[in-house]
Amino acid sequence: MGPVNLAIIYYSATGTVHTLAQAAAEGARQAGANVRLRKVAESAPAEAVDARAEWAQHVQDTADVEVASGDDLDWADAALLGTPTRFGNVSSQLKAFIDTLGPLWFQGRLAGKVYSAFTASNTSHGGQESTLLSLSNVFYHWGGIIVPPGYTDPIQFQSGNPYGTSHVAGSGPPGDVTLQAARYQARRVVDTAAALKAGRPA
Ligand SMILES: Cc1cc2nc3c(=O)[nH]c(=O)nc-3n(C[C@H](O)[C@H](O)[C@H](O)COP(=O)(O)O)c2cc1C
Repeated sequence: MGPVNLAIIYYSATGTVHTLAQAAAEGARQAGANVRLRKVAESAPAEAVDARAEWAQHVQDTADVEVASGDDLDWADAALLGTPTRFGNVSSQLKAFIDTLGPLWFQGRLAGKVYSAFTASNTSHGGQESTLLSLSNVFYHWGGIIVPPGYTDPIQFQSGNPYGTSHVAGSGPPGDVTLQAARYQARRVVDTAAALKAGRPA
């Protein structure tokens, strides 16, 4: 059995979710996975991006991150999806990517993989759980195997969100506890996918 292929597919306007995605990639690599870290395409008009200095800066800083395609999910044994909260829901940019996946879904090529999600909001009751649950709805439709972090590691009692790693961006960039939680979540996803892969015919 080869290593687990993990796709980390995310949207981030101002860098918070990008930082979580990078921590998840570290955790997954430590667990032995092949990782594809991919941003989804920006769909906001250039005037909107340029009107916010942090947004324009983040677009520039992540110019070298490859843009996600359906092939990244087709390749993957497991996927972690990340999005900022938008009114308690998934960002339109990540949703637009998800909505390109009809043909893969129809062929059953999204089923049987391990899925998990992470997010950020600006305030502590700003909709992190509803955003993660919205992504779970997608995973149900795909026939995915949802692997949340729960309280399965001591770090989860500090980070505090059993649905998925999350960060309150209004309190500053993600700190050590949140980054550890992101690494842990990715390790758990990889370990679960490895166990499934080992039990499946090649
Ligand atoms: C249109 C829009 C809607 C938002 N809705 C919420 C919200 O419902 N709750 C909240 O706490 N933050 C909300 N935010 C703030 C973002 O979630 C926050 O800026 C984001 O998590 C930062 O992540 P990023 O740095 O990866 O872009 C919203 C931001 C925008 C632009």
